[in-house]
Amino acid sequence: MREKLGFFIWVLFLWGFCLGKFVVEKNSLRVTSPESVKGVYECAIGNFGVPQYGGTMVGTVVYPKMNQKACKSFDDVDVSFKSKPGGLPIFLLADRGDCYFTLKAWNAQKAGAAAILVTDNRIEPLITMDTPEEENSRADYLQNITIPSALISKTLGDSIKKALSSGEMVNINLDWRETLPHPDDRVEYEFWTNSNDECGNKCDSQIEFVKNFKGAAQILEKGGYTQFTPHYITWYCPEAFALSKQCKSQCINHGRYCAPDPEQDFSRGYDGKDVVVQNLRQACLFRVANESGKPWLWWDYVSDFSIRCPMKEKKYTKECADEVIKSLGLDLNKINKCIGNPEADEENPVLKAEQDAQIGTGSRGDVTILPTLVINNRQYRGKLDKGAVLKAICAGFQETTEPAVCLTEGIETNQCLENNGGCWQDNDANVTACKDTFRGRVCECPVVRGVKFVGDGYTHCEASGALRCEINNGGCWEEKRDGKTYSACIEDDSKGGCKCPPGFKGDGVKTCEDVDECKEKLACQCPECKCKNTWGSYECSCSGNALYMREHDTCINKEGTTSSSWNVFWVIFLGLAVSGVTGYAVYKYRIRSYMDSEIRAIMAQYMPLDNQGEAPNHVAHADI
Ligand SMILES: *[C@@H]1O[C@H](CO)[C@@H](O)[C@H](O)[C@H]1NC(C)=O
Ligand SMILES: *[C@@H]1O[C@H](CO)[C@@H](O)[C@H](O)[C@H]1NC(C)=O
Ligand SMILES: *[C@@H]1O[C@H](CO)[C@@H](O)[C@H](O)[C@H]1NC(C)=O
Repeated sequence: MREKLGFFIWVLFLWGFCLGKFVVEKNSLRVTSPESVKGVYECAIGNFGVPQYGGTMVGTVVYPKMNQKACKSFDDVDVSFKSKPGGLPIFLLADRGDCYFTLKAWNAQKAGAAAILVTDNRIEPLITMDTPEEENSRADYLQNITIPSALISKTLGDSIKKALSSGEMVNINLDWRETLPHPDDRVEYEFWTNSNDECGNKCDSQIEFVKNFKGAAQILEKGGYTQFTPHYITWYCPEAFALSKQCKSQCINHGRYCAPDPEQDFSRGYDGKDVVVQNLRQACLFRVANESGKPWLWWDYVSDFSIRCPMKEKKYTKECADEVIKSLGLDLNKINKCIGNPEADEENPVLKAEQDAQIGTGSRGDVTILPTLVINNRQYRGKLDKGAVLKAICAGFQETTEPAVCLTEGIETNQCLENNGGCWQDNDANVTACKDTFRGRVCECPVVRGVKFVGDGYTHCEASGALRCEINNGGCWEEKRDGKTYSACIEDDSKGGCKCPPGFKGDGVKTCEDVDECKEKLACQCPECKCKNTWGSYECSCSGNALYMREHDTCINKEGTTSSSWNVFWVIFLGLAVSGVTGYAVYKYRIRSYMDSEIRAIMAQYMPLDNQGEAPNHVAHADI
């Protein structure tokens, strides 16, 4: 299986591969002392950490005596690179080799260094230091690297080491001000991404970035400060393989547009072609949103789709995507038309344009790694992190034309004002799941007056906990008639939920209907009984002098004899009758009249007697 898969990945070609060009993004490094090394050099920005786009950083270089490759933690050798008060920040110089670049940077950061300079171990053009491939690294520290990193040439590294060993202080100014062009007061940027959410760290960090950056992206776009375009990489299947099983499962439009299998296993889960179709849907959504003057809806769609339609819940489907599109108020028909027929043997104009855009133009190289951010036609290097990317975009404006968001971080988006941000809401109770945050709007079930709502935040939220019936009756049915109120909210049900009270039937949410106990023969069915249905209960009366015993659903004679065949009182009376016969005749009448009143007292505890002229029930939760 593995071998076949490897072969297949090898077979997929990047459009325009032979023209391939990868551009190493650089910033400038100025050595200010000593005289022997003084000058301006180039260094390559690492694809992790936070480069200070638009800014500069001054520091003094330290080359450690031990652990010179920085592959071990400096804690172990008890060395710290924290700068002393009043001293310059420390740039750690480390040798290339033996471990990942990211591990070197992480060790440097942990020891307090302000930046890391990695010196190449051979004479060659500068390369881009990248993050390790996920599978074989336990790289949970990757997202925590915040110091900038730079690769310097072996020649420069050697000169710095020589100066340091002769006791000289080496001071450096790292300068990112000219790293990005800033020709005008609008920044064009592209994000090359992928709808696949099962590729480990890289996918997770992509989607985290979209969620975190959304708010800022939307402010920039709405203010006309930026023009953003999302892009998707697809591959093509060489014609010779177009009809192979592999190409059929990984490609659409007869091998023209492919993506690798998300699980790298053809036999299970989603296939590459599912990913291509979702990518196409996102690209089409952007076009339709852009046409309707709201290109920023792409950010909402992509973050909502990742929350509502993840692969691991098997919701990575057209149906789920359509729900999200509808909640954003976009034209589903236009989007479907743009997607076209993935089975057809024809080109899709949108994906064709995406493939063409992969080839680098001008100062931008080909896009070959995902995710990639391109700002003013230059590839961004560094961690995909809201602050770092915002800094880079802001560095793309001509000085003094930056929007306010570049100068402050406190931003509110007011997205809930329109269409409630596509989130759940309950107008009756004035409760909404839409929350404006500096990250853009989020759909999150709220806590209102101490009542916690639970649910997905998009289509449903439900009150939970002890006070749940306090707000809008917990979303359950409730009705008041003639001074009686019935409710379907179950107060102490920690799971929530609505259930019609006894005497009613229905879903408990919208309706509970009175049960006709008489018609449905649920009570009051003895031959002498007369049944009358009431709202939420029933009334039962017995013919003649008999009393209705609600508990036993039977009639009982006032004189103390029951009319039904089964009755506990019968036994008692029989006993009394026997003792009556053996007793004095004088006592007979007294006992009888005494028992009569006693029985009446007992009866009165169960129910009001007929001649008291009261309705037989006045308790809401009737006991049937
Ligand atoms: C990275 O940062 C997160 C949050 O600040 C923290 O929970 C996590 O332990 C850190 N990881 C490492 C390896 O330090
Ligand atoms: C989005 O709209 C703008 C202006 O309406 C246009 O210049 C741009 O090319 C559009 N982008 C795409 C990808 O259609
Ligand atoms: C709904 O709640 C919001 C904030 O809690 C309040 O400002 C608004 O006036 C309320 N609207 C109604 C109709 O009660």
